Amino acid sequence: MTGHVELSRRGGVLAIRMNRPDKKNALTAAMYGAMAEALLAANGDNAVGAILFLGVPGVFSAGNDLKDFAGFAASGNLGQEVLAFLRALVIAEKPLLAAVDGLAVGVGTTMLMHCDHVLVSERAKLSTPFVNLALVPEAASSLLAPRIMGHARAFELLVMGRPFGPEQAVAAGLANAVVASDQIEAAGFAAAAEIAAKPREAVRLSRQLIKGSPDALLERIDEEALMFANRLRSAEAQKAFMAFLNKTG
Ligand code: COA
Repeated sequence: MTGHVELSRRGGVLAIRMNRPDKKNALTAAMYGAMAEALLAANGDNAVGAILFLGVPGVFSAGNDLKDFAGFAASGNLGQEVLAFLRALVIAEKPLLAAVDGLAVGVGTTMLMHCDHVLVSERAKLSTPFVNLALVPEAASSLLAPRIMGHARAFELLVMGRPFGPEQAVAAGLANAVVASDQIEAAGFAAAAEIAAKPREAVRLSRQLIKGSPDALLERIDEEALMFANRLRSAEAQKAFMAFLNKTG
């Protein structure tokens, strides 16, 4: 467990808060590990009826901690904790919700594609600058994004790296509604409580029917991870990270 991920319960709702504001909620291995553990534990916890992801004011997450990318390149994959979290998203049995106030970069955006209900604030900015960093998409987003929003918009988000504002996120089917920043957490908890109050087994089965088999998503996560790690070793990717870390970009 890490101090940068806070778990709390409100009735049948488990809230998972990413809380590393000084680094814009960039996700470390420990944070991924803590979130994976929380998701897996919730699968077997009858008291949990819905899970709500939260960030801090103005920032949902700046994505993977860029400092960890060097380690991923050396190990040849995305890192055990990252993969554990991505797989836990896919096999999560409880409905997943997110309240996104402000920035959601990289996995901060792709994790939303696994959520069942997403609220964004009027200052939300969702982006996946994978290709700008000479990388490829992850979290099975290469499979989920075209399903959710169609090829053209998936390409704009994942390959062109253009950020989506709140209205665009809703139009693309990535989010359900735009909510004022100061209301978004309350609205997130209300939606999560609404779901948690429904007959649990009926929710679970209905969600399973809607989502279908997780197999293709799990396979795509592995396929993307291999390619991602190979890309990390490329000269163009190294140059992009150094530019960010040295603030020369
Ligand atoms: N990994 C590691 N550190 C990060 C980070 C990341 N993904 N995102 C932000 N940070 C750190 C910054 O290095 C900075 O640290 P410092 O205060 O010690 O210098 C701090 O968080 C604040 O970030 P800063 O860039 O000053 O804030 P900003 O408001 O100007 O910009 C972002 C915010 C998110 C737009 C910008 O930080 C950014 O582009 N981050 C990288 C996002 C990214 O590429 N993620 C990976 C996608 S695959």
